[in-house]
Amino acid sequence: MSEEIKKEAPAKVKVTIDGITIEVNPGTTIMDAARMIGEEVAPPAMCYYSKLEDTGGKCRSCLVEVAAGSTADPRPMPKLVASCRTGVMDGMVVKNFSSERVIDARNGVVEFLLINHPLDCPVCDQAGECYLQDFTYNHGKEYSRYKFVKRTFIKEDIGPYIQLHMTRCIMCYRCVFVADQITEKRVHGILDRGDRAAISTYISRAIDNDFSGNMIDVCPVGALTDKTFRFKNRVWFTKPVDAHRNCENPKCCGKATLWLRGEEVYRVTSRRDKWGEVQSFDGKPGWICNTCRFEKKKTSDWVVEGLTTIPRHSVIGANKYKKLVVPNDPLQEVMKGVQPKLLMDIHSISEVNNPAIDLSTIMGPSNSNDFKKAGQHEVPYDETIQFGTRSDKEVEE
Ligand code: SF4
Ligand code: FES
Repeated sequence: MSEEIKKEAPAKVKVTIDGITIEVNPGTTIMDAARMIGEEVAPPAMCYYSKLEDTGGKCRSCLVEVAAGSTADPRPMPKLVASCRTGVMDGMVVKNFSSERVIDARNGVVEFLLINHPLDCPVCDQAGECYLQDFTYNHGKEYSRYKFVKRTFIKEDIGPYIQLHMTRCIMCYRCVFVADQITEKRVHGILDRGDRAAISTYISRAIDNDFSGNMIDVCPVGALTDKTFRFKNRVWFTKPVDAHRNCENPKCCGKATLWLRGEEVYRVTSRRDKWGEVQSFDGKPGWICNTCRFEKKKTSDWVVEGLTTIPRHSVIGANKYKKLVVPNDPLQEVMKGVQPKLLMDIHSISEVNNPAIDLSTIMGPSNSNDFKKAGQHEVPYDETIQFGTRSDKEVEE
């Protein structure tokens, strides 16, 4: 008999999030377990990005309450935990949107994130697809207690294609992980500490790596913007379509979203999934190279597949629904073939809505007598009574 030890798949663990139970592999984070259930229980994420290693734990927007730690130790966790960094235990009970403590904490997180972030959505190029804007609408309060001058920075071109507006940065580190993990070499990072901390290149304008454009896609706010697109158009005026091309770069997936206005390609981005992250193809994240992103700006460069599916709640998706299904009109069936027009001709069957009555000629509030009289072809009102002078007794009659 073979000495080989049979490796059994690890037993699944059960976790309950906002009352919905799911079985997941051990080691899964609360965030990923919630995403497996669906959008209705998934916590918001400003720094976590599942396609990049080691992300999360920076912004605290994904805080949740653990009402029971596990079956073995069902005590609640005393503090709220970052769901993107906390693994599930068998029998864990998590409260997300159902916890008042969580909602209150998220109010505070929004307030902190907006301490230095400018409220310049009307002029920001990211408006309409900004995750901080969505997070603030969903979890923020209508005021801030911060009365001091906000921290500001000068805008900087950090390469031929990208502009950094550091004032808007929320220090999520996603762009640093992109540069670290998918570009040839990272030439930017977080310099200084505390309130001086800032994204920067050591030597200005140094970012020219082939995949640097992906930093723009992962930035949840308008801190990193595409210089070939910024302020050319509002994103909700453009039409997103899925397209692909045979890219010569072996690391580029060649599948992208083109943002069109008429036939003109205004910008090219990687394709996004429902979490706002880059879509995966054949199990790998679909990053695109700078050539596809910045230089292929003609529809003839691409094979257009069709309209991109955008969630209905998004401002970008306005009037661009794919496969819009018009529900069946049940009226024909209910009316058994009789034309609805007849149903709507209520004058022929109603004794109240009598077209012989000109409502504008009735003085004062009308009453049932007015309609009865009209039905008998009588004068519907006493012409001697002046507007607003009808007595209570007359009205009662
Ligand atoms: S520039 Fe954008 S992606 Fe980079 S740390 Fe700031 S907010 Fe995050
Ligand atoms: S998404 Fe979890 S801490 Fe930022």
